[in-house]
Amino acid sequence: MKPVEWLGTSIRIIDQTRLPQHLETIQIENWHDMVEAIKELKVRGAPAIGVAAAYGIALGAQSITGTPEEDFRRELEGILAAFAASRPTAVNLFRTIDRMKQHIACEKGRDAIVLALIEEARSIHAGEIDATEKLSLYGAELIANGSTILTHCNAGPLATAGYGTALGVIIAARGQGKNISVYADETRPLLQGARLTVWELMQADVPVTLITDSMAGHFMSCGRVDCVITGADRIATNGDTANKIGTYTLGVLARENGIPFYVAAPLSTIDPALRLGCDIPIEERKPEEVTMLAETRIAPQGAKAANPAFDVTPARYITGIITERGVAGPPYDHTLPALLKEVQ
Ligand code: MRU
Repeated sequence: MKPVEWLGTSIRIIDQTRLPQHLETIQIENWHDMVEAIKELKVRGAPAIGVAAAYGIALGAQSITGTPEEDFRRELEGILAAFAASRPTAVNLFRTIDRMKQHIACEKGRDAIVLALIEEARSIHAGEIDATEKLSLYGAELIANGSTILTHCNAGPLATAGYGTALGVIIAARGQGKNISVYADETRPLLQGARLTVWELMQADVPVTLITDSMAGHFMSCGRVDCVITGADRIATNGDTANKIGTYTLGVLARENGIPFYVAAPLSTIDPALRLGCDIPIEERKPEEVTMLAETRIAPQGAKAANPAFDVTPARYITGIITERGVAGPPYDHTLPALLKEVQ
């Protein structure tokens, strides 16, 4: 089953909030529902958000009929703005919007614009599939037979609408016949690790053990982790990397314990406009995601809770960034811009 699929006049997505108990799809019939699906994490993970938004924008453009071109363009701008306001951290969303804007600026007439947006959405999706397949193979070379890998959040096929990033690497290494195993952080507050990573690794026949986030340091210090691999939501050109909250802690713990810490991400996750991680916008989500566990309140009524969804791991903690063009190492402010130049 495909995490995101264009059906011509609608989009089918796997509802990630229902997993692992229910593997269900939702048919998205209009762009408003796609914006909501992104906000509610029905579709989530940086590359998958970029792909889903691309199809959502194409669907929105297709639905505007019978208006003069000027009005069509104005409505389209409203759609782009709604997607831009859905989730602030994953840069793939904003790359999608920029690519769509270029077509809207270049094409003349509603029909030509709609066609161009559909084609561009397909191309963004195909690009993520290709990039995640390639980076998975580069990353697999770093995994020694017999390794135990620790990962955080979910960076698998569901999160990329492709092969996965961190999990793509792990699944590719397993596919090469390596005897590996994984510790998956549960990833509070929304448990993407427990719900999605464990499910995807079990599907791929990779031995996986679920741990709570607070156990990671213990297993590292006991010598039971050989490397850490995570995905990324936005990477500044100096290598500072925003990923799911808790990733920074893992970077520091890995350094303290002499364990390599890799980030796996397609080049579409590097933001060429941001030099430093401190400028990456961090999404703040509603406190109920922390005070409640599913439908159950776990904190006292009226308790305050903070809920930043991401943190930034400084580049100095990152051993390598695994991309579809190979593994970049420090100094990232040289190696990442050089990689980006190759694909321009
Ligand atoms: O809030 P989410 O679930 O969208 O956060 C996702 C992550 O942080 C992933 O690790 C990241 O997007 C990498 S996706 C391959």
